[in-house]
Amino acid sequence: MYDVAIVGTGPDPSNPTLDGFAMGYRHAEAYRNHDDCRLVACADIVPENGAAFADEFEIAAEYVFEDYRELLAAVEPDVVSVAVPPAIHEEIVVGCARSVVDAIHCEKPLAHTWASAQRTVQTCWRADVQLTFNRQRRFGRPFVDAKQLLEDGAIGDLERIEIGWGDFYDTGAHTVDLAGMFAGDRSAKWVIAQLDYREEDRRFGSHQENQMWAQWRYDDGVHAVLSTGAGKELVGAAILLRGTDGEIRIAVDDGPMLEVRSGGSTERIDVGGETMHRTGNEGDRFGSEFHDRAVEHVLDCLEEGTEPELSGRIGLNTAEILFGGYESVRRRGRVDLPLEIDDNPLEAMVASGDLSPEPAADEIGEGGA
Ligand SMILES: NC(=O)c1ccc[n+]([C@@H]2O[C@H](COP(=O)([O-])OP(=O)(O)OC[C@H]3O[C@@H](n4cnc5c(N)ncnc54)[C@H](O)[C@@H]3O)[C@@H](O)[C@H]2O)c1
Repeated sequence: MYDVAIVGTGPDPSNPTLDGFAMGYRHAEAYRNHDDCRLVACADIVPENGAAFADEFEIAAEYVFEDYRELLAAVEPDVVSVAVPPAIHEEIVVGCARSVVDAIHCEKPLAHTWASAQRTVQTCWRADVQLTFNRQRRFGRPFVDAKQLLEDGAIGDLERIEIGWGDFYDTGAHTVDLAGMFAGDRSAKWVIAQLDYREEDRRFGSHQENQMWAQWRYDDGVHAVLSTGAGKELVGAAILLRGTDGEIRIAVDDGPMLEVRSGGSTERIDVGGETMHRTGNEGDRFGSEFHDRAVEHVLDCLEEGTEPELSGRIGLNTAEILFGGYESVRRRGRVDLPLEIDDNPLEAMVASGDLSPEPAADEIGEGGA
């Protein structure tokens, strides 16, 4: 039986927005649904968030903390989920890794800078603590089945992965990760990119460009391209896998979720009603069942001592492409990897004035401008 604690409960689980998805609730539900877990404690710097969460998950008042360090000292949990904004992932994950925990399951994206991402993963590796980042979409049927089709040779050899959904950094922590999964979880050799950032957009505290074009090449020669913002719908898919003998198409939301096009015909694949966001089962409004599958995988790997596919090491492949893409914009050229920078070039370009996004239109309205 694992004693589990959540750091970063979130405020209001019934109304998830980009200002707060309360991912702590999604993690807690997954542990509650797991036979080998006991949710014993939580920490949140906002006391009322912790109190409401404790009420929902029946955590005794003496195990509700504001400071995660007090939680670690008092409870000594086996597993900690970290669901706070990316800029403080490192502080809390490293703090947990230096305590007695066996496993840390942290929210994506890995970190707010490339150096922070590397330090976080290395610290856990040195401390022999299993570190995973939650890319739960890997466990949805559209992606699981597409991977199986690819491995079964349905489109021959994979040549190019095309992404036409979301953005580069925040959602890219999922889509670029999924591209990495299809490419065999290998690192990239280079990345080239351009972006447009004219209207300010912050996600979980980090800047997020409005439009992006990026291309990268994996070390086995497979290419990937990503188009976000204007024109992204022309990809015609969330993810399109192009092979020597056909294509696999994973849709964004409507219509057939998974199709194989080969030899002039199109085959629709039944994915049991699952979309890229949720299973479609009653009660899975927030895609909670994908989080359940992620937690089950994380704990199976902890039990067996095997590397989870959500591992920090594999997550670094994605982080290097994301920060490398922004570095390509800053350098105005292709960036050969490994990446030799420390920061987040997008944040740096905003700080230096190289990029100067205007406040978002709705913010101007609210401010009376
Ligand atoms: N996997 C996904 O699909 C998915 C979806 C949404 C968000 N996320 C990620 O989840 C993370 C959290 O996002 P969210 O939407 O749940 O945020 P949120 O604002 O809903 O919740 C974060 C909570 O962390 C608390 N917090 C902040 N600093 C803290 C600290 N030092 N110690 C303890 N608690 C602290 C806040 O008070 C808040 O309650 C982000 O990294 C985000 O990118 C992932």
